[in-house]
Amino acid sequence: MTSIVLYCRPGFEKECGAEIQEKASWNEMYGYLELYKNEGIVFFHLHQDEHAETLMKKLPLKRLIFARQWFVTLTEKVALPDYNRVEAIVEALGNEWQYADLRMETPDTNDGKALTKFCRKLAVPLRQGLRKSKILTEQGDDDGGVLHALFFSGQEVIFGYSLANNNSRHVMGIPRLRFPNAAPSRSTLKLDEAFLHFIPKEEWDERLTSGMRAVDLGSAPGGWTYQLVRRGMMVTAIDNGPMAESLMETGQVKHLMMDGFKYVPMKQNVYWLVCDMIEKPHRVAWLMAQWLLKGYCKEAMFNLKLPMKGRYQEVVKDLQTIKDEFAKYKVKYELYAKHLYYDREEVTVHARLLSAPPADYE
Ligand SMILES: C[S@@+](CC[C@H](N)C(=O)[O-])C[C@H]1O[C@@H](n2cnc3c(N)ncnc32)[C@H](O)[C@@H]1O
Repeated sequence: MTSIVLYCRPGFEKECGAEIQEKASWNEMYGYLELYKNEGIVFFHLHQDEHAETLMKKLPLKRLIFARQWFVTLTEKVALPDYNRVEAIVEALGNEWQYADLRMETPDTNDGKALTKFCRKLAVPLRQGLRKSKILTEQGDDDGGVLHALFFSGQEVIFGYSLANNNSRHVMGIPRLRFPNAAPSRSTLKLDEAFLHFIPKEEWDERLTSGMRAVDLGSAPGGWTYQLVRRGMMVTAIDNGPMAESLMETGQVKHLMMDGFKYVPMKQNVYWLVCDMIEKPHRVAWLMAQWLLKGYCKEAMFNLKLPMKGRYQEVVKDLQTIKDEFAKYKVKYELYAKHLYYDREEVTVHARLLSAPPADYE
């Protein structure tokens, strides 16, 4: 049987599964789910073998909200011996296909973390063995498939592959970011990851650059503002709570103690709107659509805080609110949402208009 394996935040397997099942059914592909609860792993077993690869080719990973990484299975779970593991793996994989890279992965749990030491030790001999038997191509070849080895323990592994142009470049879809000591809150990593995830690096000079104006709604104590300031932007920070002194001293931040839903920028010179207000997600979604359609900002990055129940349904509904409003005014747009690694009970959304905002928007 062929399956798609998806990685998500532990505790969100149900959402991740519901999403892949729904999006597969839109493409008339069906299967059943096997959830590894609180391990951040979902198996989607397709009723028809060839559907796994077809689906992975048709559906961009960036369209999935809850999946961080995925692969199509090549084997069932393989039992590994205590010795000569490399030989056992080479044999299990056969020599029919070649891959450009190898990702050694584990469940995102404490047991999984304990396994990373084992994976690190195995990595060098395994790569050598796979190259020797031509399962891995020479270094530097970044086209083609990526081989995934998901270790459940030192004795059990499953293999699969993803497509280099439709996967996460990070192992398990997790970028490892360093917390900057000068940042006033750990939330800073959320916006750092969001920029890395949603904005291609080659466009940073144009879209994330020094001298731009930004507004940060729900800014205190300033973790997100810090990310804007360190990129040389001038920031209007809106929050009734206090902002970190260190940020205020930069001279790049103007702090207004007021309600983020009531603030209206004086001039139409804001490029970025970022918003991390703890508020009902549908209110935030609506506000973001308003800012973009009124031309108050060019791009918006925001969090939708998730409810306790019906988390997937809530996100879909909130995104639909934005899409409906954009559609009403026939604007072209880009809208992506992702449950990022540094997100918790929230997803991050990026939105921008690709055509001019309507002149008559009320
Ligand atoms: C998660 S914290 C923001 C953390 C911030 N992004 C950081 O990195 O330091 C949420 C903030 O939203 C603010 N907030 C909630 N509702 C708001 C509103 N209606 N207007 C302005 N701020 C609001 C809260 O005061 C709180 O400081």
